[in-house]
Amino acid sequence: MHGHQGDDDSQDPKEQINYRAAFRLLYGLVLERKAPFAVAALYMTAATLLSLMIPVITKYVIDTALPAMNSRALLGAVGAYLAVTLLYLCANYLQVVQLARAGQDTIVELKRRLLRHMLSQDLEFYSSTPVGRLTARVQSDTSTLYALFTNTVISILNDVLMFAVAFGVMFHFNRQLALALLPVFPALGLAGWAYARVTSPMFVKVRKIAAEVPGFLTEQLNGISVLQAFSREADACAKMEDLNKRKFGAEMRVELYSAVFFMSIVALQPVATAAIFGYGGRLVLDGKLTVGVVVMFLLYLGYLFEPIFRLSEHLSVIQRSFSAGHRIAKILALKPQLTEPEDPHYLASVREAIEFRNVWMRYKEDSNWVLKDISFRLPRGSSLAILGETGGGKTTVTSLLFRFYDYQKGHIEIDGTDLRRLSLGSLRAAIGLVQQDIYLFPGTVMQNLKLMDDSIPDSRVHDAIRTMGLDQFFKKHPLDKKVQEKGANLSIGEKQVISLARAMVLDQEVLVLDEATSNMDPHTERAITGAIKTLIKHKTVIVIAHRLSTVRSADRIMMISGGEVREIGSHDELLAQGGLYSKYYKLQFGEAA
Ligand SMILES: Nc1ncnc2c1ncn2[C@@H]1O[C@H](COP(=O)(O)OP(=O)(O)O)[C@@H](O)[C@H]1O
Ligand SMILES: [Mg+2]
Repeated sequence: MHGHQGDDDSQDPKEQINYRAAFRLLYGLVLERKAPFAVAALYMTAATLLSLMIPVITKYVIDTALPAMNSRALLGAVGAYLAVTLLYLCANYLQVVQLARAGQDTIVELKRRLLRHMLSQDLEFYSSTPVGRLTARVQSDTSTLYALFTNTVISILNDVLMFAVAFGVMFHFNRQLALALLPVFPALGLAGWAYARVTSPMFVKVRKIAAEVPGFLTEQLNGISVLQAFSREADACAKMEDLNKRKFGAEMRVELYSAVFFMSIVALQPVATAAIFGYGGRLVLDGKLTVGVVVMFLLYLGYLFEPIFRLSEHLSVIQRSFSAGHRIAKILALKPQLTEPEDPHYLASVREAIEFRNVWMRYKEDSNWVLKDISFRLPRGSSLAILGETGGGKTTVTSLLFRFYDYQKGHIEIDGTDLRRLSLGSLRAAIGLVQQDIYLFPGTVMQNLKLMDDSIPDSRVHDAIRTMGLDQFFKKHPLDKKVQEKGANLSIGEKQVISLARAMVLDQEVLVLDEATSNMDPHTERAITGAIKTLIKHKTVIVIAHRLSTVRSADRIMMISGGEVREIGSHDELLAQGGLYSKYYKLQFGEAA
C-alpha cells in the first residue's frame, strides 16, 4: 500500500492529459442528462437547417426570379427569407436557454460529487494537499467545464451537421466544383492533430498554475496577522507577482500556439474562395454553370468554413476542458484508505474497555516511528491522563483512536473488537474531541454548541451549561452571539470553553480532551477544571494536559516521551516511584510539595 499523493505534487512538466479518463467523466455527466441535452441538440439542428436554406433562396432569386422579371416570385423569396430568419432566431434562442440550464445543472452536480468525494478523504490527504488549491480547483476547473457543456459539445455536433449538409448541397448542384475543394480538408485535420498533441502538456500546466494563484492567496490571507506582525507583506506580494508572471507566461504560450493554429486555418479560406472564383468563373464562361450557382457556392463556402473556424476555436476550449476534466477525474479516482470496513461492526457503546496493545505508528512509510510499542487499557468509566513533552506523540495516540490515521503494528481494540472492523461512523460518533486549536463554524454560539445539529433541543444546551457551572461565561457570551469566521471574535481560551461545553452537549460516551484548557486564565481554568472533574467522574476520558491539578484527578497517568510509554500508574504510585512524573510534579509545585 502506498500513501496518498497530494495529486498536485506530480511535478511532471510533460504530464499529458489523460483523454480517456477525462472523456469518461465528461461523457458520463452528459449521459446523466440525456433528455435536456437532446432537446437542446434538436433546437440547434433546426437552427442550422434553417440557416442553410438561405443560399438556396439566393440562388432562386438570381437564377429564377430575376431573369424571369417575376416580381411576385421575388416578393415570395423575400417573404421566405424573412420567415426563415425569424424561425432561425427563435430556434437559436431556445437552444441557448436550454443549454444554459442543462450546463448549469451538470456543473452543480459535478461540484456536489467532488465535494462529497473530498469530504470522505483521509486527513492524510488534507495534510499533503493545500486547501486553498483544492477550493480553487473545485471553482476553476468546474467553471472551465461550463463552457464545454453550454456551448462546445452541442455546437460541435451541430458543426458536423452544418458541414455535411453544406457540402452535400454543393455536391448536389455541381460535383466538379465541390470536389475541387477536397484537398483542403486533410490539411485541416493534420493541423488540428498537431495542435492537440503539442499543447496538451501546456494546458495541464496552465490549469495547475491557475489553481496555485488562488491557493497561494488563501494561504497568505489565512496568515495575514503573522504577515503584518512581521512586516512581510512585500514578500508575499513579490511571490504573488512571481506566480502571476508564471501564469501569464503559461497562458501566453498556449494562446500563441492557438493563434498560429487558428491563422493557418484562416489562411485556407481565401485559397478555397479563389478556387471557386477561378474554376467556377471558368465554368460559367464555358456556359456549364449559372452565376447563381457560383454565388451560392461562395455563400456555402462560408458555411463550410464557419464550423471549421469554430472547431479550431473550440479546440482550445476542448483542450482546456479536457485538462480540467483530467484533473477532476484524478481527484475522483482518489480512494480514501480509511474506509468503512466490509461487514462493519457497529459500536453502540463501550461496555468494557478500550485497549492499545504494542501499537507502533509512523505517519509516512519512510519516516521515523512516532509511537513505539504503546500499550494501555482504559476500562469503561475510567480516566487516563497523558503527559509528556511537546511532540512526544500524545495527540497521535488519540488520533489513532478516532482512526484519523492507521497504525502499522499492534492492536487497538474496543471490547475485544479490532478498531479496523468497527464502523467508522459509529466509532467517531461515540467519541468526543476537544482539541487544542479549535475550529468554530460561522453561526451563533448556540449553533456551534450543537455542532449544526438542529435536532438537539435547546434544553440540553442549558442543562450542559448548568452542569458544567458555566452560567457566568455564557452570560458574557450569550447563546445568540454571532461567531465570526474561524471564531475570530473570540479568544482562544473562550473558544476552548465553548468547545468543552459542546462536548458536554453532544454527550458522547468517550471524551478526548487534548490540551483543552491550555489557553485559559487561572480563574476560568479553575471553573473548567471543576467541570472536567465532573466529566471525568461520568465518562470514559482521555485527557492530555500539562496542568497537574487536572492530571491528578485522572485514575491513571501515562508519561510518554519520544513515542514511548515511560511510566504508567496512579498519581500516588508514580509519585512513590520517584521517576519522571515525580520530577515533573516537583517542578510544578516546587520543592515544598
Ligand atoms: N500529520 C502529521 N504528519 C507527519 N508527522 C506528524 C503529523 N502530526 C504529527 N507529526 C509528528 O509526530 C510527532 C508527534 O506529534 P504529536 O502526537 O502531535 O505530539 P504531541 O501531541 O505529544 O505534542 C511529532 O514529531 C510531529 O512532528
Ligand atoms: Mg498535541
